Amino acid sequence: MKYHLEFDIDFRRNPYKGKYIVIEGIDGSGKSTQVERVKKELETKGKTVLQTSEPNTHDAIGKLIREVLAGKEEVTAVAIQYLFSANRATTHKEIIIPALTRGDYVISHRCFWSAVAYGMVDRADVLRVKPQDEQGNQILIAQSILSMYHQFIVPDYTFYLDVSVETAMKRIEGMGKAREIYEKREKLEGISKGYEWLLEKFPEEFNKVDAEGTAEAVTKNILTVISD
Ligand SMILES: Nc1ncnc2c1ncn2[C@@H]1O[C@H](COP(=O)(O)OP(=O)(O)OP(=O)(O)O)[C@@H](O)[C@H]1O
Ligand SMILES: [Mg+2]
Repeated sequence: MKYHLEFDIDFRRNPYKGKYIVIEGIDGSGKSTQVERVKKELETKGKTVLQTSEPNTHDAIGKLIREVLAGKEEVTAVAIQYLFSANRATTHKEIIIPALTRGDYVISHRCFWSAVAYGMVDRADVLRVKPQDEQGNQILIAQSILSMYHQFIVPDYTFYLDVSVETAMKRIEGMGKAREIYEKREKLEGISKGYEWLLEKFPEEFNKVDAEGTAEAVTKNILTVISD
């Protein structure tokens, strides 16, 4: 028996005075680098900037997620998405919304968009389908994830750092740190496809930035969009 469901998604917009900026992209695309650089530039212009990330280790859930990512704790692929969601709920309530209410800038390393791209790979594993092979499955998986996330406010600016999996792998290797569970080539390829799907479906929500160039060049492109 097959059931047919269809629904429209309307995101919650930022109703506060402050601006909510998010840097997205696959592992090793340069998000942390850009969060730091953009924060500094905005502060130079006299803005008050709050820096955050997903996961955020301000609570026990965020700390648990870090352990799972490092391979020290194990939970199922679906469970980790719920953990991220719970951590996101507390981060929004306790950190992001108070800052936006004060009229500050918030710059975040990832937001719920990551959960869609990463969750698509995880769910595909669970369902044993290749999300990139079949549009129908891809949509089904994405919808099931998004239905959990429409409660969060969507950023004013989401920058997608566009790099090849090759470049990202090289940068991760160059960092010489222990690999997290997602930092394998096949995973990165799946996640990259997940982001491509998001950019195609939600073109108005993303600013795609060529992130193959120098960190300076990437920052410049981001700041041009913000100052417009
Ligand atoms: N534009 C760039 N050109 C060359 N190297 C870069 C660039 N941006 C970042 N790097 C380097 O690549 C590595 C990964 O960058 P970074 O930690 O910012 O990535 P990330 O997207 O935050 O990764 P993760 O998803 O693991 O948090 C770092 O060593 C960083 O110095
Ligand atoms: Mg980072």
